[in-house]
Parts: sequence; structure tokens; C-alpha cells
Amino acid sequence: MTVLGTKKTCLLLSFLCVLLLCLFNIWLRGFQVLTTIKPFDILNSSSSNNRNVTILLWYWPNNKPMSLEGDVCWDLYRIPRCKLVNQHFLFPSADVVVFHNRELMEGSQKLPLDLPRPQGQRWAWMSFESPAHTGHLQQYANIFNMTISYRRDADITVPYGELLPKEAGGHLEEDVPLNKSTLVCWVVSNFHNYHKRTAVYKELNAVVPVKVYGKWPGSALSNEALLPTISQCYFYLAFENSIAKDYITEKLWNAYQSGAVPVVLGPPISDYKDVAPPNSFIHVDQFASVRVLGKFLQELAEDKKTYNEYFSWKQQWKVKMFSDWREGLCKICVQYNSLPQHKVYSDLQAWDKDNTYKASIVFFPNTGFF
Ligand SMILES: *[C@@H]1O[C@H](CO)[C@@H](O)[C@H](O)[C@H]1NC(C)=O
Ligand SMILES: *[C@@H]1O[C@H](CO)[C@@H](O)[C@H](O)[C@H]1NC(C)=O
Ligand SMILES: *[C@@H]1O[C@H](CO)[C@@H](O)[C@H](O)[C@H]1NC(C)=O
Repeated sequence: MTVLGTKKTCLLLSFLCVLLLCLFNIWLRGFQVLTTIKPFDILNSSSSNNRNVTILLWYWPNNKPMSLEGDVCWDLYRIPRCKLVNQHFLFPSADVVVFHNRELMEGSQKLPLDLPRPQGQRWAWMSFESPAHTGHLQQYANIFNMTISYRRDADITVPYGELLPKEAGGHLEEDVPLNKSTLVCWVVSNFHNYHKRTAVYKELNAVVPVKVYGKWPGSALSNEALLPTISQCYFYLAFENSIAKDYITEKLWNAYQSGAVPVVLGPPISDYKDVAPPNSFIHVDQFASVRVLGKFLQELAEDKKTYNEYFSWKQQWKVKMFSDWREGLCKICVQYNSLPQHKVYSDLQAWDKDNTYKASIVFFPNTGFF
């Protein structure tokens, strides 16, 4: 009994020794691996793909180059392992190649259709214009794997602006802007009689005076003068040049930043409600006529308490504008691992011109103002 017992103990002990040695070895190897990678890799160990992602920008949008020196995505946006490059010779090793639509449309740039596309490489179509200004896209059937646009149903959504929650305990700025001298302002450079916004402006101006700035009336504003000018107005006409799904440009965010209440003309109210707080803007479609809208603005400016309520969102939110192309490109890396394995836009024209409203995630709870 005891002899058998001793033999068993011996066997068990040897087994334990071997097991310990094995574990020690694994631990050592693991430690070696861990010491060669950055802390971020450990935090993001759930993402199986820990290599660099290379984003090749084939040409700079609007011919305005920016620096790609250093680790731009990490230095500016704390996005790790994301390499932005623009040298064409890096094409064979690029994971994503990005083409901005305007230059293709104008013919100043071409797609490198003659180059053999490496397996797994994705081509991205990038555009921030509404479908009315993107040109004919039939020629781009079966070429692109992803879209980068302001649209929320694009593969990479880069809105013109967005609201971020304010940090608790942050400094409390003046919620309600003072010093208003003008009832309604509009800034317009691209004035056309066929625009819906032109008709609305003319009708509104017949009811209440609208002060117009910009290239069109010959009083162009510098970038520096824009926000201070808008801030003197109770209301700012954030009228889009065309009406399209999700097409809400910097005009809305400029109004928010300057402290004027935006009067919006663009996609349906529901699109605005998804990205902007309730009771922070006035939508032209809310009114039976432009005349009724004009009367409403006049009365609201005189009712300080109700007017000030349009700024209560400022207690919780701050405006973030999209102003650097590099940010949108770095954003590709954040989503890279969750992009579909295989995707081709077989009919880019149909995707782009699709103006039907699709169900979307509601960002702000409906508090029933409208
Ligand atoms: C209010 O506006 C006037 C004239 O536009 C300006 O001189 C003054 O500094 C402004 N005051 C504040 C508090 O912004
Ligand atoms: C990696 O993890 C950090 C912290 O958890 C996070 O802030 C960052 O967005 C992650 N990056 C990626 C590319 O997932
Ligand atoms: C990208 O599109 C091309 C052209 O249609 C296709 O051959 C390729 O498989 C696609 N790649 C991915 C990763 O979806």
C-alpha cells in the first residue's frame, strides 16, 4: 500500500515538474513578445490584426497637400498603427487606396486602372458633395470597395461636424450669446436662382429683413470674420445648396459655434434630429409657409426666455468640426478590421444618387419639440 503510494507521489511530482517547466517556457516566450510591442497592442489584443494599415492617398483633394511626416494618425488623433502615404510607388503594399471624386470628375486625375491590384487591397471612393455635384458615376461600376462620405450609410462616415459630450467639470462658457444686432443673416457665395434656397430667401426677405453676406452680394467674408459676423445675428440661414439625404454641411455647425440659431433648409427634419439636439434649430419644413416662418422668427427674437432655450444643448455638448482631411483618412484604420472581407460597389451611381431615406440610429432622444 505505502510502496504503491510512494510510486504514485513520485510520478505525480515528476509530472508537476514537467508541467511547471512548460508553463515557465511559455511565460518566457510570452514575455519576449510582449516586450517588443507597444502597450496599445496589449489593450487591443482582441483585434487579431495588429500590423500597420497603409492608406495611400492617390492625390490631394483640391490640390492642397498637407504634411504626412511622422506618425500623423497617432500624433494628431491617437490612432495607432495607421500609415498615411501619398507616394505612388507604395501602391503594391497599400491596404487602401483613396480617390477623391472631384478631381476624377473634372478630369485632372485618373484611376490607375492599368496597375495590377494586389489581392486584398481596397479602393475607396471619397466625396463630400451632394449627389447633385458628383457627376456621372456609371463609369465606376465594379471598381470601388468602399465609400468615404458624410453619409451615415457610407463605409467610413466623416460628417462636416458633430457634437461631442462635454467633460463634466469643464469650464462653463456663456450659454446664451448676447449682443445681437441683426435678426436674420445669410452668407452665400454660390447664388443661383434655380436653388430652392434662393426662392425661400426671397420670400423670407419680403417678410423680415435678411442681411446677406458673401461673394454673391459682393461682401465676401474672410474665414476669420465669418463666425463673429454670424454671432451678431439672432438667426442664421443654414441653407444647403441641394437637398439630399444626410447632406448637412458646415453651415449648421458654424451657426452652433457662433451662437446664432440655425434656420435649416436641407434634408428632412428627421436627418437633422439624428445629429443635432432637439430644440436647437428651426427647420423650414416645420412651417405652413415662409410667411409664417418669418413671423415666428420675429416673435421668437423678442421672447428672450424661449429664444435662450435654443442654447440649452450647450450645457452638454460641444461642436467638433471636421477640418483636416487626414482625420478622415486615419478613421479608415479604426474601422479597418471590421470592414467586410469582400465588397464591391457594382453600381456606384445608384448608391450615390439614392436619396431615399433609410432608417437610422437616432442619436438624440426625441423630446417632442416638433
Ligand atoms: C458688442 O458689439 C459691439 C459693436 O458691434 C462691440 O463694440 C462690443 O465689443 C460687443 N460686446 C461684446 C460683449 O461682445
Ligand atoms: C485601442 O485601445 C485603446 C484603449 O482601449 C482605444 O482607445 C483605441 O481606440 C483602440 N484602437 C483601435 C485601433 O482599436
Ligand atoms: C475590390 O474590388 C475589386 C474590383 O471589383 C475586386 O476584384 C476585389 O476582390 C475587391 N476587394 C475586396 C477586398 O473587397
